[in-house]
Amino acid sequence: MRFVVTAGPTREHIDPVRFLSNPSTGRMGFAVARAARKAGHEVALIAGPVALRTPPGVRRVDIVSARDMLAAVQAEIARADVLVMTAAVADWRPARCAKTKLKKGAMPDTIKLVRNPDILKSLKRVKGLVRIGFAAETGLPDAEAARKCREKDLDLVVGNDVTRADSGFGTATNRVSLVTPDGRVRHLPLMSKLAVARRIVAFAEEATKRKGRCQ
Ligand code: PMT
Repeated sequence: MRFVVTAGPTREHIDPVRFLSNPSTGRMGFAVARAARKAGHEVALIAGPVALRTPPGVRRVDIVSARDMLAAVQAEIARADVLVMTAAVADWRPARCAKTKLKKGAMPDTIKLVRNPDILKSLKRVKGLVRIGFAAETGLPDAEAARKCREKDLDLVVGNDVTRADSGFGTATNRVSLVTPDGRVRHLPLMSKLAVARRIVAFAEEATKRKGRCQ
């Protein structure tokens, strides 16, 4: 099977040296890429700016912004069976990006933001593709994950409570719930990100068979 996995943050530049972003380190996404490759699948890993080594046998595409990530996903998706979006994609970007570093005096007090495209939503109509999203939440993680599952029409949402010290951004472990479109919520115990990744890969393999996409 062919997996496309996104990982890490995006950066939305204000000028060449300043940007809006978030604390994603890419660990969760790189673990999914590693687990999928170990299970014998072909993997394209689309990574925001992170300081991690590419897992062996994985093809990596580096990007910076949400719009770069959308273009990279669109380029990879035609040949894919599974998309796993672990990336923390910035929902907004500055309306303007200065070509040269803004002098302090030229820096506006307010920055106008515009919405970035929603990558998962834009791929709703790709037939047969198994689409798995994450939901990073600071409150009601299960309810929010279920809402995102419906809104983005996903096969699985991995709900991630990012308020815990052992879970979410930058940690080696994760505590997640698996939310499916039938409304089922399965809470997994605290486990390594690689162990969570293996569960996601196993789910994708089963879902792909159900969709009759490939063996
Ligand atoms: O990288 P780590 O440090 O290991 O941290 C892992 C993690 C916390 C980043 C990861 O486990 C996680 O929760 N990733 C999802 C973060 C997120 O952006 O969630 P969201 O609820 O804002 O987005 C929901 C889903 O839509 C996600 O799959 C996201 O990739 C996707 N999305 C979001 C915005 C956007 N414009 N397009 C999208 O496709």
